Amino acid sequence: QIDSHKPLLVKEPELEVDDGKKKVTIFFGTQTGTAEGFAKALAEEAKARYEKATFKVVDLDDYAADDDEYEEKMKKENLAFFFLATYGDGEPTDNAARFYKWFTEGKERGEWLQNMKYGVFGLGNRQYEHFNKVAKVVDDILTEQGAKCLVPVGLGDDDQCIEDDFAAWRELVWPELDQLLRDEDDPTTVSTPYTAAVLEYRVVFYDPADASLGDKNWSNANGHTIYDAQHPCRSNVAVRKELHTPASDRSCTHLEFDIAGTGLTYETGDHVGVYCENLDEVVEEALRLLGLSPDTYFSVHTDKEDGTPLGGSSLPPPFPPCTLRTALAQYADLLSSPKKSALLALAAHASDPTEADRLRHLASPAGKDEYAQRMVASQRSLLEVMAECPSAKPPLGVFFAAVAPRLQPRYYSISSSPRMAPSRIHVSCALVYEKTPTGRIHKGVCSTWMKNSVPLEKSQDCSWAPIFVRQSNFKLPSDTKVPIIMIGPGTGLAPFRGFLQERLALKEAGAELGPSVLFFGCRNRKMDYIYEDELDNFVNSGALSELVVAFSREGPTKEYVQHKLMEKASDIWNMISEGAYLYVCGDAKGMARDVHRTLHTILQEKGSLDSSKAESMVKNLQMTGRYLRDVW
Ligand code: 2AM
Repeated sequence: QIDSHKPLLVKEPELEVDDGKKKVTIFFGTQTGTAEGFAKALAEEAKARYEKATFKVVDLDDYAADDDEYEEKMKKENLAFFFLATYGDGEPTDNAARFYKWFTEGKERGEWLQNMKYGVFGLGNRQYEHFNKVAKVVDDILTEQGAKCLVPVGLGDDDQCIEDDFAAWRELVWPELDQLLRDEDDPTTVSTPYTAAVLEYRVVFYDPADASLGDKNWSNANGHTIYDAQHPCRSNVAVRKELHTPASDRSCTHLEFDIAGTGLTYETGDHVGVYCENLDEVVEEALRLLGLSPDTYFSVHTDKEDGTPLGGSSLPPPFPPCTLRTALAQYADLLSSPKKSALLALAAHASDPTEADRLRHLASPAGKDEYAQRMVASQRSLLEVMAECPSAKPPLGVFFAAVAPRLQPRYYSISSSPRMAPSRIHVSCALVYEKTPTGRIHKGVCSTWMKNSVPLEKSQDCSWAPIFVRQSNFKLPSDTKVPIIMIGPGTGLAPFRGFLQERLALKEAGAELGPSVLFFGCRNRKMDYIYEDELDNFVNSGALSELVVAFSREGPTKEYVQHKLMEKASDIWNMISEGAYLYVCGDAKGMARDVHRTLHTILQEKGSLDSSKAESMVKNLQMTGRYLRDVW
């Protein structure tokens, strides 16, 4: 009699074979394209090394239409890699959100992934509390569910040099793949050394005078039924106001985008993504360094002239035909520090050998410390590096594919409620203006644009930007009677202004409101107490039961929102005991972390709990959606 619980023969599962080739799937969860780039880079090098395997790079969102399909298809994966970025409060990227929710809720599936071998590389930032949470969680669950881990989870740290972390992790992957994918007919084969080629678009130049081309860029953005990051909605700046008083040496802009008639909608607590342009002075400097005419009219392509794809598949998606001035303004990130791959691309096109050597050295393992110092710590911008290496003049196909990353949209917590402002999206944005260690004044791309924008109130020829709405789970409780505690210093106030507008509208419509308290923090009542009158109105009208403000620079010692929380510990404890929802919005690295600790202390002291009980109470609040954070 055979013991039915134990298989007699433990056989390693065979890798699924497709067309006589072993199949490897490389998944990515990406927000700004880095995870996707790494996934493609791994695939490319692997293709060069293992001719008898196929490598498929897959966007997690495109992989399956629903949960059943995820399960059906995942079950069949034998060898998979996951590149997963973590954002904000330990959250997955938008394109991985659906997969992550399904995968993390699937405890009951048991050990159903026994046929899978896998590796996970995470992209995160060590400055944040939930460093690489998504990658770690997925790695744990894959193992729990029976998959076999080939290499330790890679913990990419964007605070330093994430390219190095990826390179180091990749070196652990090859010996494993050698085992699994090496040509069996010839067991002596070793993988061939591989050098990544510099990426390059095919470029077509047009006669700038050729008017038939028209302006195919953002101005045609409207006309879609669904707006998203790929299909933003052109919207005018209707109102712009400075929120700080003249006494302040900083600036914070209140902006209203007009969405009337566009079909774009939003909910209280959502985020708005804004595509803005580089400042003229930045574009001028880039034009000077590239040595090309601003009117150069061109298009970029990811295929060869005969339509077959270009060698590398890692090319970012092309942008519509436009002038070089437009391309530099709208598509090129010119102020971030260049990645090592960008330095290599510059080196490949530097006519001065000394400059080329310096750039290569910075990108090499031997130049690691120098890179950390000169690029990361000094926040040296791409333009500064190009100015220091004037002989490096990459052609446009290289510049836009490999040197300048794509300019990303900026996200803001919407500071209005559609119940009050159905045809407007309000934003409250602090100006980024700081001196970097090299002495450069860094002007934030989007915050500077907002500060200088011309509203429709002032001119028919007003400023506009392509925008889109990103849904969030930072929402008021559906029952208006549930108590709420809101904590948001500085521009962390933004979503709470939306919450309070919503509560006011609900109250006016006859709803009964539960108690609410807002902890706001600023430096000084006379400088940066933003929306002071409105907050007073919310209190007077009953939309807000209590307003507590911490002024950090009025007295002899700093007073922050968490100090005020501590003073009100008993009230907080009582509200939480009565089912209150807790919301925190603002800076993740300092404020949200400190507030989190304070909350823990309050639960411990007022609930007479030991540290681990308090911890599990916090976890429970998080799990049940009663402790929500919108942090950056
Ligand atoms: P500070 O600039 O005086 O340090 C909005 O930016 C407010 O948040 C300011 O009053 C700022 O104070 C304060 N702030 C800075 N760091 C904080 C932290 N770790 N926790 C809470 N508030 C903080």
